[in-house]
Amino acid sequence: MSKTIRLEPIGTESTVDTNTQLLSGLLQQEIKLLQACAGRGLCATCHVFIKDGIEGLSPITKKEQRTLGLITTCNETSRLACQARVVGDGIVVQLPSGTYINEVDNIDDLVGRRAQADILHPITGQVLVEETKLITRSMISQLNDTKIKVDQYLAGTEDA
Ligand code: FES
Repeated sequence: MSKTIRLEPIGTESTVDTNTQLLSGLLQQEIKLLQACAGRGLCATCHVFIKDGIEGLSPITKKEQRTLGLITTCNETSRLACQARVVGDGIVVQLPSGTYINEVDNIDDLVGRRAQADILHPITGQVLVEETKLITRSMISQLNDTKIKVDQYLAGTEDA
């Protein structure tokens, strides 16, 4: 049996087989999700809000709960798309606004430019640079530090 997922704010829909990862449904729509931890449930980069139909997803595991606890923008509608499986119909997903830093190809090139979207921390989802703010060299070194810490965090984390 297949299930339909709707994606807001762009209003597109995709169909997946029952029990498929929510992430696969989103990737079908060519949504750029970073997946910094490669789908291990350890980062924030596949974090989404479920606007409707949250009961149509598999229950939250302890690992997902723990990772969601790190995300500063987390609320009761939050799920990790790599951990949630689609078991029911009527799921409406809202992507958090902003870009996670590992998506920024050449961070140095951004100095002196304004952020085109909020730049988000890949583990906590925290806004590191707000949309339209001028990006300075000191911000860039902070972003680089964050990248290194994320790599260390992911390298040092064992799957539970
Ligand atoms: S890709 Fe990292 S938690 Fe889903």
